[in-house]
Amino acid sequence: MIKISSLSKYFGKIHALDNLDLEINKGELLGIIGPNGAGKTTAIRIICGILKPDSGDVVVNGYSVLKDPIMVKSMIGYLPEEPNLYERFKARDLLRYFGELYGVPKDNLNNRINELLELVGMENRAEHRINTFSKGLRQRIAIARALIHDPQIIIFDEPTMGLDPATSLAIRGFIENLKGEKTIVLCTHYMDEADTLCDRVAILNGGKVRDMGTPEYLKAKIHGDIILEIKIQNQNIDTEKIHSLSSVESVNLNGKNLSISLSSKQEISDILRLIGNNMISINTKEPSLEDVFIHSIK
Ligand SMILES: Nc1ncnc2c1ncn2[C@@H]1O[C@H](COP(=O)(O)OP(=O)(O)O)[C@@H](O)[C@H]1O
Ligand SMILES: [Mg+2]
Repeated sequence: MIKISSLSKYFGKIHALDNLDLEINKGELLGIIGPNGAGKTTAIRIICGILKPDSGDVVVNGYSVLKDPIMVKSMIGYLPEEPNLYERFKARDLLRYFGELYGVPKDNLNNRINELLELVGMENRAEHRINTFSKGLRQRIAIARALIHDPQIIIFDEPTMGLDPATSLAIRGFIENLKGEKTIVLCTHYMDEADTLCDRVAILNGGKVRDMGTPEYLKAKIHGDIILEIKIQNQNIDTEKIHSLSSVESVNLNGKNLSISLSSKQEISDILRLIGNNMISINTKEPSLEDVFIHSIK
């Protein structure tokens, strides 16, 4: 659906994108994660036809963003990092204005606006002015604006940055609802957001993709280990028997703390049976996307 080929962009001496290649499939939710300055926003602005690359091209649904920028723009809904909304407009009027700009048929537009206001939970704010809105409400309206022309592709640039946890959760819910129906690109530096929402994740750093795959694949790649951290009442534990299980890689007993490293989850119930009611508490630690990320940008 989106094919990014050898994209390069300099800002003076800063090499923001370094021969970036990336393909985004129809209907998938692709996450782009990377630290500040990795090139995420630059890549997105080029995809959306807002910024010209120094070299390379992006082909969206068969159209080159360099040759057919208007066609490409019509297929994409874009939520910028810092949406610029018209402060004096009422929410409904803002959506109508952008709907007309994008050529949404007039007899459809009112329904579309109501649908979107409902989607982002803003039905009862439709007649309020943007300049009375909190950051979270603005973000909701900015999302509705990005969707007004019912684009096939939606690109979210840091959609939950700086928002309170409840609003972030709501916004992740909107994205989740669009999943499957639309092709979605989600730029974020929140690893748990990428982990829970994305089909695939590309790790971007220094303007290049460092690694890419499903969150599970990336996590399994870094180390397949699961660590059980068990607190026990007494040291009366047959550590050798635990060690003899095929998935157990190591067993460490340190005072009342038993730490068992596993290559898979399969025998966890056998281990628990061996410890029996000697156990006080148990914790599992699995590699997170954060671990993968830190590992791959080193
Ligand atoms: N308009 C600009 N002028 C100068 N430098 C820029 C501009 N936009 C981005 N950069 C630089 O390009 C690099 C990539 O930035 P950006 O794409 O915004 O990264 P990200 O979105 O991943 O944080 C950074 O070093 C940034 O400072
Ligand atoms: Mg950015």
